[in-house]
Parts: sequence; C-alpha cells; structure tokens
Amino acid sequence: MQRNEARRKVEQLRRTIREHNRRYYVDNAATISDGEFDGLMAELAALEERFPQLDDPESPTHRVGGEPLAAFRTVAHSRPMLSLQNTYSAEEVRRFDERTRRLLGEEGPLAYVVELKIDGIAVALRYERGHFALGLTRGDGTQGDDVTANLRTIRSLPLVLSAEAAPIPERVELRAEVYFPRAAFAALNARRREAGLGLFANPRNAAAGTLKLLDPRLATERHLALFAYQLLDAPELGIENHGAALERMRAWGLPVNPHVRRAAGIDEAMALCEQWESRRRDLPYDTDGLVLKLARLTWHASLGATSKVPRWGIAYKFETDRAQTRILRVDWQVGRTGAVTPVAVLEPVQILGTTVKRATLHNADEIARLDARLGDRVTIEKGGEIIPKVVEVHREARTGEQRPLGPPQRCPVCSERLEREAGAVAIRCVNEHCPAQLKRRILHFASRGGLEIEGLGAALVEQLVDHGMVHDVADLFALTTEELARLERMGPRSAANLRAALEASRRPSLARYLHALGIRHVGARAARLLAEAYPLLHDLAAADPEALASLPEIGPTIAASVHRYFARPESRQLLARLEQAGIIPRPIAKTAEPSSLAGLTFVLTGTLPNWSREEAGQHIIARGGRVAATLSGKTNYLIAGENPGSKLAKAEAAGIPVLDETGLRDLLSRGPSGD
Ligand code: IVH
Repeated sequence: MQRNEARRKVEQLRRTIREHNRRYYVDNAATISDGEFDGLMAELAALEERFPQLDDPESPTHRVGGEPLAAFRTVAHSRPMLSLQNTYSAEEVRRFDERTRRLLGEEGPLAYVVELKIDGIAVALRYERGHFALGLTRGDGTQGDDVTANLRTIRSLPLVLSAEAAPIPERVELRAEVYFPRAAFAALNARRREAGLGLFANPRNAAAGTLKLLDPRLATERHLALFAYQLLDAPELGIENHGAALERMRAWGLPVNPHVRRAAGIDEAMALCEQWESRRRDLPYDTDGLVLKLARLTWHASLGATSKVPRWGIAYKFETDRAQTRILRVDWQVGRTGAVTPVAVLEPVQILGTTVKRATLHNADEIARLDARLGDRVTIEKGGEIIPKVVEVHREARTGEQRPLGPPQRCPVCSERLEREAGAVAIRCVNEHCPAQLKRRILHFASRGGLEIEGLGAALVEQLVDHGMVHDVADLFALTTEELARLERMGPRSAANLRAALEASRRPSLARYLHALGIRHVGARAARLLAEAYPLLHDLAAADPEALASLPEIGPTIAASVHRYFARPESRQLLARLEQAGIIPRPIAKTAEPSSLAGLTFVLTGTLPNWSREEAGQHIIARGGRVAATLSGKTNYLIAGENPGSKLAKAEAAGIPVLDETGLRDLLSRGPSGD
C-alpha cells in the first residue's frame, strides 16, 4: 500500500471509529457488534504500526495511556469550580424556588432542567480548536490536578469534538462527572480480590483512585466513564438555556446523561424527583440525588453565585441511612449480661438529620472481618436499629497511621477475667458483681420496657452503685427519700418523686417483670409469650425446658436460658427479696395476637409527644413489626411527629399512610395492649 492510500485509509478508519464510539457511548445505540469494532481498531493499529509517520497522539488507538508521571501538575481553573447547595428536604427545595422567584422578580413558575446527580468525581475539561487539551480535578476549587493523561483513557470522552452538527469555538470549557459504571466497578474489585489487592469501598472511591493514578496505563484497564453537565460560556455561543447547552455538548460528541428532563415549574420538577427515589436503583451507575437547574441562562447570569455555590441550582439528595466518617477511638462496653462489645467513637457525622458519634462494631470477630483499625475511614449505617453500625472499612484510604484494634484481655471496668463461650462470638466479663453489669441491669429493670421507673436514669444509677447503696435491683425498693435526696443533682422533691415512682412500680404485669429481670435471650416478645403461657411466676419457675420449648415461638435456646435462670440459687434469692419488697407481678390477660404487626414495615420521623423514636420502635418490634430507616416501596406506615422533615411529604406523595403517636398507639392496642 502506498503512503497516500494508507493516509486516506487511516483517516477514514479514525473517523469511522470515532463515529461508532459516539454511537456507543453518547447515543447509547451501537450499530455494529463489539467484534466488528475491535476489527476496525486492529486494522487501524496495524496501519499505524506499518506507517509510523501517520501515527497521531489523538488516534483512537492511543487510549492505552502515556508514560507514568512523577507527580501531577497543579493548574489554575479558568473559573472557580464551585459546589452546589444541597438538601434532603423537599420543603427546602421549594423554599429555594420561592426565594429565587423573589430574587428574579418573576411572578410565574420558573422552568428547570432536572438532572441526575451522578455520584462520581467532578472534572473540568478544556478543548482547544476541537481537541481535548486539558482535564483538571476540582482540587481546592481554584486550582486542580492535571489528570489529562488518565482522562484520555476514558473511551466515552472524545479526543476530538465533532463539528458536523454545530461549529466548534476556538476554546470550549465544560464540567463533567467522572464515574465508575457499577459493572466495571464489580469487575475491577473481582480482579483485585483475585490479585490479593485491597478492594475499593464503592464506585466513587474507585473513580477518585483511578484519576489519581500516576501511571495512565493502569487507568486504561479501569473503564471509567463520564457525563458532561455544564458548558461554560454557553451564552457567548448564542445558547439561551441550559437544556440547549447540554444538547450542544451532545452534538459535539460529548456524553450527556440521557435522563435530563425539562420541568415547566417546581411542581413538575418535584414530581420528576419523586420518580427517581426508586428508579435510580435500576441505573447502571450510582447517583446521590437530582440537580435542579434554572433553565434560562440569563437567570444564571443575573443570580450569580456565593463564594461556594451558584444561586441558579440546588441538589436534592436522596436520603440514605449511610455516611462516611473516621474511627477516633474504640470503647469496650460491658453490657448487662457481661458481654464486652466494641463501640467505635466517631468523628461526628449527620445521618438522616441526626448527629451520629458512636457506632457498634458488634464483637471482636466483626472487627477482624472488617479489619477495622483506629483512625480508619469507615461507612456507618443507621438502619432501623437504635445504634448505628460500622458496615465498611475504607482500606484504600489508609495513611499508614492506622492502628490495630485488639480485644481487651481483662474487663475494662472491674479488671476481672474475660471468657469466650465455645461457639459464641461475644467475650464476657465473668464477674457477676462487675459494677458495669449491675448498672446496666438496673437501667434495664427500670426502663420503659421493664418496670418503667420514672426518674431512675443513668447518672443516678451510676451514683447508687458507686456509693455502694444498691447491690441488686431489690435494693432499689429499700432506698429512703432522705438517702436519695443526699445524692448529687437530687433534691427533696426529685427524691420524693423517685420514691413515688418506685412505689408505683410494685405491681408490674408478669410480662414486664420477666423482661425487666434481664434473663438472657428473653426480650419483650418472649417475655409476653411466657407470661401468657404461665400466668403465675411460680409455675414458670418450675417449668422444665421441654415444656417451655413446646410453646409457640419459644425455641430451645430461650427455653434453656429460662430454665437455667430459675434454677440458679442467686436468681431465686433475688426473686424472694423482690417479693419481700412487695414486687408482685400481675398475671396478664391474653388479649389479642401478639404478632398483630407481623409483616408490616414502619418508618419513624420527627419528635413524638411522649415516646422517643426508639421507644416507639420497640413497641412496634414487640408486636412483630419491622422498623426501617428510610421510606421504600415496602413501607406500610410512616409514624410522624413534630418537625418530620422531607419524609412526610415523600410518604404523602407515595400514598403511604401517615400516623401520629396516637394513631400508632391505636394500632398497637388493636393487637395486645401494653398490658
Ligand atoms: S452541576 C457549580 N450537575 O455534584 C457546580 N453537578 O454537589 C455545578 N454532580 O460538583 C454542578 N452530577 O461534582 C451538576 N448533573 C450534575 C451533576 C453534578 C453530579 C456533582 C458535581 C458537583 C457536585 C455538586
């Protein structure tokens, strides 16, 4: 083949390949098979090798990545890279709309462009005379790292813009989000696991890590992708609205997300947002919300920006019950049964409107499984539980300063020996008189699920045990008003109130009493079932394990534990002392099916008048219901108190029934009553 003929062929192949790339990545509509595409690439590569003088750094064959860099060059952004105002609350988005209308002096509705908020890494891209010239990370917003070489490996990023549909200005600058498609992320982690390398915690971290690779050849294997979402200087090109700016970028061959929609006003925009709550899970990439941008670019110009965010847009984030933070310290807590559990003390972080400072690490096995260390960056999840949990450790974020977390050798409170039962994961303090265990037992005894002794809180229990005034729960009833009044933060009135509360608690239902005793494996529900089957405590205490295990929902573990409890002389002694103190449980009437809420999922939000959310949750769980942190298609009821946040509007929009505390109490009492 002659050189001229080869040149023509090479140019034609490059054009064809770019066109197919565009159909594949930008239009999402391939017209040839992957095999045919690979054939074209191979043909081009062979020609470039035979005629090296025809080689060109922008050839589609050169996505493989250039030479490794020693470090990234820092380059100033032509315009600051701002962030967006963001919120989880629909009301706040509506307030944004109202404020913006006032600022603009517009009477009628404001038109918006609604886009998915891609959960990736922002980049600034520059094209000069249609050629990809520079790509920067956000950095500190005024200057970023030059990651051009890594960005060149992204197949959906055109190295040359197409002038077919619209002319290309001398210089084009745009902003885009680089992301890891879920499938590519899963494949990357699978390869890393096989190679014994650390895993990336999520696609976003993997995208960030890939952009920061100094060797672009490694980036080639990672299959990143990107969506362009902002064209700078669009008005200078005669473009009047943001939707048209996105279209222009698409015409140049840049990938623009296909789910962008125009909304005539805020109502339409919010309706679009609602749809994505559940639909987003079907997308092949992660999103963390929606972005509402005013459609008209003249509005963008007149509104301008604060030092951090533009006034023409807002991000409406999806609620999630997870967040990332750091482990500052680990406290080993001794529970009422002696189980010593690790609790991570965290850098405070907001989840679903509350500040989270602690999360459980469950046990030493879980620490080992997660390989959690002091100083680690972690993901925590609120879930339906009272205490959030650590669900993920971000090993890739380690700095070398993280320290391993060994379990303690002795009880952190009483220094007694710790024991691990065969087959169990928990380590336990063997000292039944361990003050930490005793304090917890007393608090549990007095709690709302137990004897509900008003005013007996943690600070008071702390003093009662530390001053040696109480050695077991029966001692509580011998305390005099005078003794109580002498304690810190107590006065005659609170002492008298506590005394009255102790008196008032002398006739608990047997269900509450059993629960209050803190028998291992006996929660509120099992206590109720046992109390229903054995209206008299003496009969229950005498029951053999087989008889107990034959009760509905009482398995062999609970049965054995109950039997063991009543067989122990210490328990018998305590029960006798409680009886002497006048604590006589009442038999309960079998009212209704205790699992009246079985199969129902509840979400709680806002402040309830009498119950904390946790208490309300416990009542629901005791009736067999489930409590979730976020609304979903599975939610049956939203229980809303004061200041319910965005969940209320979302539930109403989704047609989920909303109850207040009274409504919940009604629902609970339609099943078995509190007693
Ligand atoms: S517009 C001035 N549109 O979210 C900033 N941002 O919290 C204008 N993002 O920095 C941003 N998808 O990294 C915009 N469709 C989208 C987006 C998007 C993801 C990211 C981007 C931005 C951050 C703002």
